[in-house]
Amino acid sequence: QAAYSGVNERTFLAIKPDGVQRHLVGEIVRRFERKGFKLVAMKLMQASEDLLKEHYVEHRERPFYMRLVNYMSSGPIVAMVWQGLDVVKMARAMIGETNPADAKPGTIRGDFCLDVGKNVVHGSDSVESAQREIALWFRKDEMPCWEDSTEHWIY
Ligand code: PPS
Repeated sequence: QAAYSGVNERTFLAIKPDGVQRHLVGEIVRRFERKGFKLVAMKLMQASEDLLKEHYVEHRERPFYMRLVNYMSSGPIVAMVWQGLDVVKMARAMIGETNPADAKPGTIRGDFCLDVGKNVVHGSDSVESAQREIALWFRKDEMPCWEDSTEHWIY
């Protein structure tokens, strides 16, 4: 049993349509697996406009809102839930700054993209956002329970 209280923290990540089209799914999943996080849900899906409008509701007044919704519905995305110590904060660090021009080499956006409008991956920005987004994108029965036998070596 892990000694830390935050190991059950969860975040919502989505590989955006550009990431799927560019065959970056394996590369991105690999980074989170190797970091030590546990995959608790994953699906390749075409997101509806309604779902995306709700997902990005806090940005509805921003000028790029509909462009963002249209881009996210332009092809399949990979929706995922990952679990582990401080996963919300660490996943954001691994993804890098929103604008790829500010994203450091070594981060996903720093390594794989150029345009803020095609920035490969989404990660929840807080524990509260993660809870809202996970509930929006996944049903409980889409998150199977499984024992991660490596956890003992990570924590
Ligand atoms: S964040 O991640 O909330 O701190 O970043 P923010 O700058 O508030 O951006 C919110 C989401 O909008 C996307 N974004 C854009 N899309 C298209 N065009 C432009 N100019 C643009 N600027 C920001 C940004 O990637 C965030 O979406 P996610 O899916 O969280 O990455």
